[in-house]
Amino acid sequence: MPNDVIEIKNLVRKFGSFTAVNGISLSIKEGEIFGILGPNGAGKTTTINMLLGLITPTDGTIKVYGNDITRHPQVIKEKMGLMTQETVVDGDLTAEQNLEIFAELYGMSGIEKKEAIDNALEEAELSDFRNAKAGSFSGGMQRRLNLVKSMMHSPKILVLDEPTTGLDVQNRVSMWGRIRKLNKSGITIILTTQYLEEADSLCNRLAVIDHGQIKALGTPAELKKMVSEGNVIDISLRFEDIERASKVIKQKLGIECKTVADRISIAAGKEDVKTLSSIISVLEKEKVPIIAASMHLPTLDDVFIKLTGGTIRDELGEQQSNASKIMWRR
Ligand SMILES: Nc1ncnc2c1ncn2[C@@H]1O[C@H](COP(=O)(O)OP(=O)(O)OP(=O)(O)O)[C@@H](O)[C@H]1O
Ligand SMILES: [Mg+2]
Repeated sequence: MPNDVIEIKNLVRKFGSFTAVNGISLSIKEGEIFGILGPNGAGKTTTINMLLGLITPTDGTIKVYGNDITRHPQVIKEKMGLMTQETVVDGDLTAEQNLEIFAELYGMSGIEKKEAIDNALEEAELSDFRNAKAGSFSGGMQRRLNLVKSMMHSPKILVLDEPTTGLDVQNRVSMWGRIRKLNKSGITIILTTQYLEEADSLCNRLAVIDHGQIKALGTPAELKKMVSEGNVIDISLRFEDIERASKVIKQKLGIECKTVADRISIAAGKEDVKTLSSIISVLEKEKVPIIAASMHLPTLDDVFIKLTGGTIRDELGEQQSNASKIMWRR
C-alpha cells in the first residue's frame, strides 16, 4: 500500500464570521492524482492555500510526509510545488527571465540554474520563445510556463489549482497529457477542478466539496456506483408535464424521481430495463406524452444530482469546452 504523503484533519478556515472551509479531513497517497471537485466558492483555493502554508488554518492539522506544517514549514518548500489558479507570469519579462526569478528563489545558480531553465523551457515547448516577452504568449503558452515554473525545484507533490479553467478544448487535453506524464514520473498530483470530465478522466480519487465540506470521497467508479448499480433512466417530457409525471411514477410504482431541467432522472438499480418499461407503460396509461426515454451508466453528473439534489447542466451559450462545468442550482 502506498504511504499517505498528506494528511489533513478537521481543517477549518473562517473569514470573519464566514466559514469557507468547514471541517475537511482527507489523506492523499503517494503517486496518486487526487482531485478536489466543487463549484465556484466551494472552498477549493482556501484549502489549497492552507495546504501550501499561504494562509493559516483557523483549526485542524496538516501533515506533509508526516510533518506538521505549522511546526515544520520548510517541508512545504522542499517537497511541494504550486500552480496557482491565476497565471502569475510577468508579462514584461521574457520566458527565460520568468523562470530565472523562480530558480533563484530556490537557491539555484550557475550551471544548475541554466540547466533547470533549459529543461523547463523544453518541457513547456517554449525553447523557441525563450527571449520573447511572456505578455505576448497565448493563454495556453502562459499556462505551460506557469506549470514548469512550479516544477523547477523538482517537488515530490505538485498542487494545481484549476489547471485548465479558461483553456480551450485542445489546450485542456494537452494539459491533461502533461499532468499524466508528470504523475507517471513519480510525482503525486493534487488538483482542483470544476470540470466533471476532468475529474473523471484524470483523477484516481476525488473529494467532492461544497460549502467547505466533503460531500463524497472515493474513486470515480465508487462515486458512480453510489448512484446506481445499474443504469440511470432519463425521461424527457414537456416542461408542464414534469411534476405530474413524477407524481404518477411515485404513486403507481413507488419510485422517486429527480427533476433535471426538462427531464426526470431515476437511479434504477439492477432492474433497470424492467423499471424503464414499467415507467413507459404507466405514463402512457396516464396519457403523459413522453418525448424521449433512455438509459445511461451513471456519470459524475448523476453523482452531483444525488448529492445535492441540484442540477448540473450545460451553461447556456457556452462552448463545448464548458459543457460539463458544474452548475449548481438550489
Ligand atoms: N480572503 C477572503 N476573505 C473573505 N472571504 C473569502 C476570502 N477568500 C475566500 N473567501 C470566500 O470563501 C469561499 C471559498 O472561496 P474559495 O476561493 O476557496 O473557493 P473556490 O472553491 O476556490 O472557488 P473558485 O472555483 O471560484 O476558485 C468563497 O465564498 C469566498 O468568497
Ligand atoms: Mg479557487
